[in-house]
Amino acid sequence: MILLDGKKLSEKIKVQLLEQSRQLKNENGRSPHLAAVLVGENPASVAYVNNKIRSCRQCEIGSALIKLEDTISEKELLEEIDRLNADENTDGILVQLPLPPHINPDVIASAIHPEKDVDGFHPLNAGKLSFGLPCFEPATPKGIMLMLEHYNISLSGKHAVVIGRSNIVGRPMSIMLSAASANATVTLCHSRTSNLEEFTRQADILIAALGKPGFVKAGMIKRGTVVIDVGITRIEDPTRKNGYRLTGDVDFDNVAPLCSAITPVPGGVGPMTIIGLLSNTLRAAEVK
Ligand SMILES: NC(=O)c1ccc[n+]([C@@H]2O[C@H](COP(=O)([O-])OP(=O)(O)OC[C@H]3O[C@@H](n4cnc5c(N)ncnc54)[C@H](OP(=O)(O)O)[C@@H]3O)[C@@H](O)[C@H]2O)c1
Repeated sequence: MILLDGKKLSEKIKVQLLEQSRQLKNENGRSPHLAAVLVGENPASVAYVNNKIRSCRQCEIGSALIKLEDTISEKELLEEIDRLNADENTDGILVQLPLPPHINPDVIASAIHPEKDVDGFHPLNAGKLSFGLPCFEPATPKGIMLMLEHYNISLSGKHAVVIGRSNIVGRPMSIMLSAASANATVTLCHSRTSNLEEFTRQADILIAALGKPGFVKAGMIKRGTVVIDVGITRIEDPTRKNGYRLTGDVDFDNVAPLCSAITPVPGGVGPMTIIGLLSNTLRAAEVK
């Protein structure tokens, strides 16, 4: 069984991204720049954004963290996005999800200029993705594809089963796996899928992106499957210094012995998502 080490791989890729970033600085006369918008103080969101900013620094990508109160109106947030859209020194914009319930994430995603949409959530980029046209690919599926490529996991002709159909992970993942560049045959499962296990047991590659800790059990997969665990849930754990532990969607201890390869949580898909974001930011700086 191969442990797909996203942490180690991401550190290796960051060295290449640093080179690209320096090259872009030479060409553009300034470093690539990401604006990260954080609404409210959800502890998980704060941790994710800080991690993204730290990774930008490692790759000499400039960044600005724009912290807004969770009482901000949708209109005020749209005004902030307009300001960043118009700012010549901002190459990429991300708005950390989830947003407070009174703000519609689809409205916000549609307001970001498609050429600055480094999360790849704008409908124009989503449409281009499904047409197989060049676009900003959402960071998590992009990071997963890079990881599969790095570990020489062939996809062509394989049956990939994706659990979860969100616009940020499951659906774009299914599109990228079925694209002509990957050639997997894809089954996309969700909460209304009947007999889910019938599908997961057929999977050569199983992507679990549903947000239910330990959901994928050993009895749900066949021997030799490649398992990609996207889920990250904070579970209270008084034995930990920070009071919680991060848990994936896969029952790792019992599933891992059956797999040909599997990602750990943490240290699997999470660091690769950041690589997806950073590489999109460099691409946005190239478009200039
Ligand atoms: N590692 C990373 O970098 C990274 C990045 C993004 C997200 N995540 C994590 O990935 C997980 C999923 O995130 P998300 O934003 O895609 O979540 P989401 O928007 O809540 O979507 C969850 C999806 O899972 C499906 N689902 C829920 N329960 C199910 C069940 N019992 N059987 C089959 N399908 C089920 C839902 O189906 P319906 O559509 O029918 O409701 C939905 O499509 C979360 O734990 C999140 O924290 C990790």
